[in-house]
Amino acid sequence: MNITFLLNGETVALQDAAPTQTLLDWLREARGLTGTKEGCNEGDCGACTVLVTDKNGSRALNACILFLPQLHGRALRTVEGISGPDGALHPVQSAMIEHHGSQCGFCTPGFIASMAAAHLNGETDHDRTLAGNLCRCTGYAPIIRAAKAAEHAPVPGWMMQDRQMLNDPNFFLPEISSGGAKGRGADSPPAPVRPKTSDELARHYAQNPDATLIAGATDIGLWVTKSLRDIAQPVFLADCTDLQQIAINKDHIRIGAGVNMARMYDLMREHHPSYAAMIRRYGSEQVRNAATLGGNIANGSPIGDNPPALIALGARLHLRHADTRRDIPLEAFFIEYGKQDRAPGEFVETVSIPRARDRLRAYKLSKRFDQDISAVCGCFNITVENGKIARARIAFGGMAGIPKRATHVETALIGQDWNEASIKATTPAWAQDYQPLSDMRASGEYRLNAARNMLMRYFLEDNGAEVDVQGVMA
Ligand SMILES: Cc1cc2nc3c(=O)[nH]c(=O)nc-3n(C[C@H](O)[C@H](O)[C@H](O)COP(=O)(O)OP(=O)(O)OC[C@H]3O[C@@H](n4cnc5c(N)ncnc54)[C@H](O)[C@@H]3O)c2cc1C
Ligand code: FES
Ligand code: FES
Repeated sequence: MNITFLLNGETVALQDAAPTQTLLDWLREARGLTGTKEGCNEGDCGACTVLVTDKNGSRALNACILFLPQLHGRALRTVEGISGPDGALHPVQSAMIEHHGSQCGFCTPGFIASMAAAHLNGETDHDRTLAGNLCRCTGYAPIIRAAKAAEHAPVPGWMMQDRQMLNDPNFFLPEISSGGAKGRGADSPPAPVRPKTSDELARHYAQNPDATLIAGATDIGLWVTKSLRDIAQPVFLADCTDLQQIAINKDHIRIGAGVNMARMYDLMREHHPSYAAMIRRYGSEQVRNAATLGGNIANGSPIGDNPPALIALGARLHLRHADTRRDIPLEAFFIEYGKQDRAPGEFVETVSIPRARDRLRAYKLSKRFDQDISAVCGCFNITVENGKIARARIAFGGMAGIPKRATHVETALIGQDWNEASIKATTPAWAQDYQPLSDMRASGEYRLNAARNMLMRYFLEDNGAEVDVQGVMA
């Protein structure tokens, strides 16, 4: 199978490209498009930002952790294609010049790509859309001024072209056959597998349980760029559109494993705003545009931000092996550090959340507001009836080797009056639930204290105290 996509308006068809070659390497080394820069090569700095459009819209992505097969059927614009075909500047480029938004210029192409994506999408929260782009010398004020100045400039015609082409029923990207396995050279890398449905994925994965599923590649990208690992039998999930569905009925919200964090943000803004506020701080715009819910659960990380929120909401995980499906409470998936309840060839299909009155608060504690991994992520869902605690679901990331429920604390709370004394009385239960480690993000003692304080914060907020983490940034 080959990879075809639009690159700055022109069709590119690649045969026998290595499936885990990053877009950044390919752009710079194979195409000589060196405008896109390499800074960190791990998704943190945004120097490699490009604009990718598919039928659902346009988004900024980090090219350093994007594999070529993830582009198949999509349109890509690098900084070279953000200016017009005749060299005309995009309004964000002109604004960056007028507002002195560039000094050494190394970060500038990445900023331009993020700004052009926001401009195309009519986004004006520049603190959010540019949080994934680091500048070491200009400083952000001139860059934000430039982004603001360009807000009302019309989108140039060439920037609309990709969407128009992809949505034109007469336009198709050629699917050039490599001639199958026999047609591939002996030294060719294994052909990437790109199932189009979860049925196809289920069949393939059950027969090839050693395959590596690649969703957004925000974890796996680093296995390649930082750990220099070879990825055995890559299976790309980007075209499994049925894994990207969100279904809402009166009892449940069911979210496909392939739903990315940007869509989770939109979904949770409506149903659980505190969860959305936490996702706002998940990586950066570029990372949220790629990272999927399924990847964030399946990687088993003790510091993934979704699991504690979902566990507090009483979510169930729906797993599939071939045609056999099962579902378990999400907390049961995480057995111990590095070990999950997932059989070979089994994958995460969906997550379902029971619909209920919103009582969730999700608190992410990290050293920076943006683009930082949680030291502690505490999620609370406590129901109070007639002044007494009727139900409590509390879960934490960063407090154990797995995302973990605070079962002793919950038991200590249930049946008690909803007041400060009941919260203080839970103190011994915390040490029964958690013995957190000390590491570069926080000491164990700090984590335990912070977790206890989060419960008090939940109580105070529930009683009208206003707490805004961004308040401390002023
Ligand atoms: C710069 C940066 C910032 C980040 N910030 C945060 C943050 O703030 N909070 C946070 O929680 N994480 C963060 N992450 C980590 C990462 O974004 C998440 O873990 C992400 O959700 C993984 O999803 P993915 O789709 O990219 O997974 P991938 O990298 O594609 O895959 C991750 C793992 O999940 C497996 N997998 C993927 N989909 C499935 C499936 N459907 N069924 C079974 N297995 C599957 C893969 O095989 C692999 O083992 C950050 C990462 C980067 C690079
Ligand atoms: S090079 Fe830093 S995010 Fe890609
Ligand atoms: S202009 Fe030098 S890093 Fe931004």
